[in-house]
Amino acid sequence: MSTTDLAAPMPGGSHAAPAPAPAHTVEVRDVHKRFGPSQILNGLTVDFKDNAITTVLGPSGTGKSVLLKHIVGLLEPDQGEIRVFGQNIWQVSEIERYELRKRFGVLFQDGALFGSMNIYDNVAFPLRKHTDKSEREIREIVMDNLREVGLEAAIHKAPNEISGGMRKRAGFARALVLKPDVVLFDEPDSGLDPVRTKLLSQLISEVHAEHGGTYIVITHDIPTARTVSDYVAVIWKGKMVHYGDADGAFNSTDPFVRQFLAGAADGPLGMD
Ligand SMILES: Nc1ncnc2c1ncn2[C@@H]1O[C@H](COP(=O)(O)OP(=O)(O)O)[C@@H](O)[C@H]1O
Ligand SMILES: [Mg+2]
Repeated sequence: MSTTDLAAPMPGGSHAAPAPAPAHTVEVRDVHKRFGPSQILNGLTVDFKDNAITTVLGPSGTGKSVLLKHIVGLLEPDQGEIRVFGQNIWQVSEIERYELRKRFGVLFQDGALFGSMNIYDNVAFPLRKHTDKSEREIREIVMDNLREVGLEAAIHKAPNEISGGMRKRAGFARALVLKPDVVLFDEPDSGLDPVRTKLLSQLISEVHAEHGGTYIVITHDIPTARTVSDYVAVIWKGKMVHYGDADGAFNSTDPFVRQFLAGAADGPLGMD
C-alpha cells in the first residue's frame, strides 16, 4: 500500500455524507486510566494544535508516556475517547486502527532500533513493511531522511556501534520515512548531555519547519521545551492543567505552571 492510499478516508465510518473534517488531528477527551490502585489519567482532555509542535511537560511518573501510548493506540482508556483524524480509535476495527497508526511516526525513549539490523535497514524497515516501493525508491527516501538527521555516513553501523544521540536521530529518521501527519516523541532528550539535547531539539524544530505536521514532544526538560515549543501542555495528577502558546506558558502567573517551568522548589508542586 502506498502512502497516498494511507491518506484516503477509512472505510466503515459514516454511511451517508462524509464526516466533517475534525477540528484537530489528535483529540483526547476525558481520558481515565487506572493501573491497579493507581489512577494515572483522571479525566485528561486536550486538543493538540495541528501543524505545530506541542511539548507535554509534567513531573516524572505523572502519566506522560501513558498518554502517548493512548494516542498511538497501544493502551485503551478505561473511560473517555482518543480521536485521531476524527475517529475514535477504539470504535474502529483492529485493521482500521492499524491503518491509522501508520500515519503516526513515533520516536520512543531509547530510539527502539532493532539491534540486529544496521542503521540503513532500521530506517528502511517501515517502507519495506508498509509500502510496495522498490528498493531503489526506498534507498532514495532512506538516504534523504538519514541526510536530514546527519547520519548518511553511519548507514552500515549497528545501533550499538553509535552514540545514544545518533540512535535517537536514527529513530527520528525512521519515524519520518512514511511521511507521517503526526510525530510523537517520548523524552527525545533522555540520556543525552545538554549539548546533544540542544542539537536534537534544534533538529526537531528544523525538520518540523521543513515538513510541517502535528508534533507532540513529551519531555521533562525545560530547555528542550523552550527550544521546540509552539505550544506547551502541562500534565499534573492525571489532568491537563495548562495548554497554551509557549510565550504564555513561560510567562504564566499560574503558580503550578510557574513552578514547574521554572524548576523552582517553592510552590504547590511537592514531592508526592
Ligand atoms: N503498563 C503499566 N502497568 C502498570 N503501571 C503502569 C503501566 N504503565 C505505566 N504505569 C505506571 O503509571 C505511572 C505513570 O507512568 P509514565 O506514564 O511512564 O510516567 P512519565 O510521566 O514519567 O512518563 C507510573 O507510576 C507507572 O509505574
Ligand atoms: Mg515517560
